Amino acid sequence: MALKAADTHGGNIHAVAMELGRRASSLLDFSASINPLGPSSKVRRLLAREAEGLIRHYPDPECGNLRRALASRWRLSPRHFVIGNGSIELIHLLPRVLQCRSALIVGPTFSEYGAALSLAGAQAQLLSARKRDGYRPPLDKAGKWIQSAARRAQGASAVFLCNPNSPTGQACEPGDLEELVRQAGQSGVWMILDETFMEYCESLSLLPVLHRYPRLIVLRSFTKFYGLPGLRIGYGVCAPSLAEVLRRHQPPWSVNGYAQAAAETAMNDRPYVRRSLAFMEAERERVSMRLSGIPGLRVFPSRANFLLLELPDLHQASGVAAVLRQQGLLVRDCSRVPGLTTRSIRVAIRTEPENDRMVVALRRLLGTGRDR
Ligand SMILES: Cc1ncc(COP(=O)(O)O)c(C=O)c1O
Repeated sequence: MALKAADTHGGNIHAVAMELGRRASSLLDFSASINPLGPSSKVRRLLAREAEGLIRHYPDPECGNLRRALASRWRLSPRHFVIGNGSIELIHLLPRVLQCRSALIVGPTFSEYGAALSLAGAQAQLLSARKRDGYRPPLDKAGKWIQSAARRAQGASAVFLCNPNSPTGQACEPGDLEELVRQAGQSGVWMILDETFMEYCESLSLLPVLHRYPRLIVLRSFTKFYGLPGLRIGYGVCAPSLAEVLRRHQPPWSVNGYAQAAAETAMNDRPYVRRSLAFMEAERERVSMRLSGIPGLRVFPSRANFLLLELPDLHQASGVAAVLRQQGLLVRDCSRVPGLTTRSIRVAIRTEPENDRMVVALRRLLGTGRDR
């Protein structure tokens, strides 16, 4: 199946503000999954203090300090890292640099993998997890695709897999995923693992074993967990020879100085990391329980900072999202995500009072379910 990029993303608060004739600050955006605690206070102080120098000079085109900090964090060499203007820059760069001819996307998932592959002229096939399996990623079927790709041997092939996955919130067990990565390596297939939400369940990451697999590319972001969407910064980790080629294909200075400085400070702010994790674990559980009290609303378990919901029968995601939008509450309508249903929406976990507003609005809209 050829994939079309979905034409909407979460987080377009500016367009909605314009449409509603309201200020963006009066809207509550549950459509982009960003750390509700905001950026680390150390980042705010650093950016205020260093503004003059960061604005007056070109940024380091090699992102040297950040690559060294990441290397020390992950016990790898700075040569393993490529920093991007958001991980999205790398998602779009990879299919072109790898000269992908065919690819498997394990879905339902982020639309940009399909968009990037299509722009690079690759044929993408979607392998969808099934609702009746709770959207557990079908790794056994992905393994079969890898074997058949190796037999076809027509140019480079790649598998895109998001772990934990957006918008389903499902995560793969590291042992099972490592087995798939091993198979891909043996078959000469690239494995592109998007770990954009992995900070919320770090023990499942494959970064600690990345050095064993030259065909494995792991993508990370400072957007979600570190709450820096506006600065645009993410990174890829892979074999040094590939990282070097990727860096050569980037435009010079694609990552600005604010972003580089903020990322390094954020990742080293351990109390902020601990606070963010503890908050999310408790609040996700609380919101999930409250939403589960709405009759007919299905709440899928999640390892990230959002929840996938399936609305009760007779409700459509597009209609519910539109009504909530009028109330200033933005949710992600997932009805056009291939592999999901017309009743699927994704909501980010925000602060406690904000989440309560969302729960109350949904309860009013969907029926008379008793609050728990
Ligand atoms: C799964 C996933 N990967 C990657 C990205 C891109 O993130 P960024 O470019 O901000 O790092 C997003 C953004 O929404 C995403 O949802």
